[in-house]
Amino acid sequence: MLSLKSKNNLITMAQNVRSNAYSPYSKYPVSAALLTGSGKVFTGVNVESAAYPTTMCAERVAVFSAVTAGEQDFTAIVVMTDNGGSPCGSCRQVLAEFGLNTIVIITNGAGEILEETSVAKLLPGAFTPTDLA
Ligand code: THU
Repeated sequence: MLSLKSKNNLITMAQNVRSNAYSPYSKYPVSAALLTGSGKVFTGVNVESAAYPTTMCAERVAVFSAVTAGEQDFTAIVVMTDNGGSPCGSCRQVLAEFGLNTIVIITNGAGEILEETSVAKLLPGAFTPTDLA
């Protein structure tokens, strides 16, 4: 169970980086704050490109940043958009790589929680590292 304090801290951290989103094409800023098992928080924003497909989502920026810092155990991720958009399929797959139990908290631009779910629920029947074992 994620404490209210941890939840609020993640929401604040996602809110704090949101204005750094680079989304001149979609005009759809996204931010994410990822809590690791060791208690650290890694943030991310979407970074778009004039070559559209090379855009990177906020969630994956947060995950890759955590992995770069040596963290692979994730407890929860807050995803923040204006309208409470849900993580895309690619982000669900990348989150699934590191655990189906990660809590996913979907919030709107005001920081209100619209949905609290898990990677397992967002990606039923996920293909995971165990499939390659
Ligand atoms: N986006 C994310 O950052 N995360 C998602 O899970 C869905 C989409 C970004 C990508 C692009 O910059 C913008 O939102 C519109 O698709």
